[in-house]
Amino acid sequence: MKNISVKYICSECGNITTTKTGRCTVCGSWGTLEEFNEPQKSTGSNKKSSSQKNIISALNVKAPSRILTGIEEFDRVLGGGLVAGAVVLIGGQPGIGKSTLLLQAAGSVAKNLNQPVLYISGEESENQVALRAARLKIACENLFLSCGQNLNDAVENLDDKNFVFFVLDSVQAMNCDDDSGWPGSINQVRATAQKIIDIARDKNIPAVIIGHITKDGKIAGPMLLEHMVDTVLNFSGEGYSSYRMLRAVKNRYGSTEELGIFEMNENGLSPVIDKSGLYWNRDDAAVPGVAMTIALEGNTPLAVEIQTLAARTVFQYPRRTSRGIELNRFQLLTAVVERRCNIPVNNHDLYINIAGGLHVQDPSADLASCAAIASALKNIPLTSGTCWLGEVGLAGEIRPVTRIELRLKEAARLGFNNAVISSKEDLKSNHGLKNIIQAKNLSEALKFASVKK
Ligand code: TYD
Ligand code: MG
Repeated sequence: MKNISVKYICSECGNITTTKTGRCTVCGSWGTLEEFNEPQKSTGSNKKSSSQKNIISALNVKAPSRILTGIEEFDRVLGGGLVAGAVVLIGGQPGIGKSTLLLQAAGSVAKNLNQPVLYISGEESENQVALRAARLKIACENLFLSCGQNLNDAVENLDDKNFVFFVLDSVQAMNCDDDSGWPGSINQVRATAQKIIDIARDKNIPAVIIGHITKDGKIAGPMLLEHMVDTVLNFSGEGYSSYRMLRAVKNRYGSTEELGIFEMNENGLSPVIDKSGLYWNRDDAAVPGVAMTIALEGNTPLAVEIQTLAARTVFQYPRRTSRGIELNRFQLLTAVVERRCNIPVNNHDLYINIAGGLHVQDPSADLASCAAIASALKNIPLTSGTCWLGEVGLAGEIRPVTRIELRLKEAARLGFNNAVISSKEDLKSNHGLKNIIQAKNLSEALKFASVKK
């Protein structure tokens, strides 16, 4: 008789225990333990892969073969296309466009390679997917559909033809093992993902799994899921904007630095090649409270317009509201402007916004934020055609930023004339800009903009 002992797994950290407690003893999360069937160990086949190899001889193994999806932004984020035998997990909010992106990628691979591709959908009917494919103008003879929630039935289809790529939409919708509870439960999700990984390795073809995310932005299901796959991508975007961003959170076959930007329109997702115009309206009218910077999103330089508005307050405590920059950072920079440049802030409500719905975390935007705050409070526009690049410290000092040369080149390409940067930057050339102002501190930098005498 089989010895079945009940085990529990934490959906947050993946810790497995034999006792069910209200709180996970490892990560401290409450109510996250669920009953769990330990997967049966596979027999035999593992023996060979565990043989040892000298690292130099391992280097001679040829680079993994890749399949280009033909969607340039997607291929770049993947590190140069899909890798044969590797599994990608893509997560994102409902309605963000995961199914659209992967259906487009599947259609594009089927068309470009002229070989069969399978799209497995547990969420939509054949009719729905086919209609969408027709609307996206990607329906072709080599794109095959398998709709239904039974994973075993769906993957049987993979033996029918020599598929070169397959997509599973989504891991939470599939039923893999009848004994393991509802689709979406930890056991089902884990078993489904393991099955897809095994098939991709066995057949040496790439696979993409679509995953739902929880309200905190994590992929729903055990954290283990992210450890199991080779690449984890995050597809995100603000509800009101038509732009979508694709980033790699983990990538065994490439960097996690690349950013892909798409625009959702009536024809599906189209890649945005010139990204710099997205967050900048190129309007040269000088308005108080507006400053430009070049922020880095991974390796991509983006021209970002920071807008600040100062309005006389009617409240006892002036309001500080921010969108696109962390509120604490905004409050700190406001305090630095007040103390280090002697500009009173207390009788004003202050609002800061990044045009276009981008969220900037790059500290190089500090100087532009401070310049925008000072300009708004003084009601004096900043010198037009200027970008501000620097991290600002509590003493009002301007610190150097990473990859300044790349940012300056991009500023010159976009037609900026001036750049205000830290006096500590060591530049080899002007990179095509007319004026580079190197300032030690905020006060000195603002003098250039005539905001401060
Ligand atoms: P979808 O790919 O179904 O999102 P997900 O799989 O992430 O839940 O995208 C659904 C949204 O995209 C839907 O609200 C409508 C929009 N959309 C377009 O605007 N144009 C299109 O051509 C398509 C296919 C979808
Ligand atoms: Mg979907």
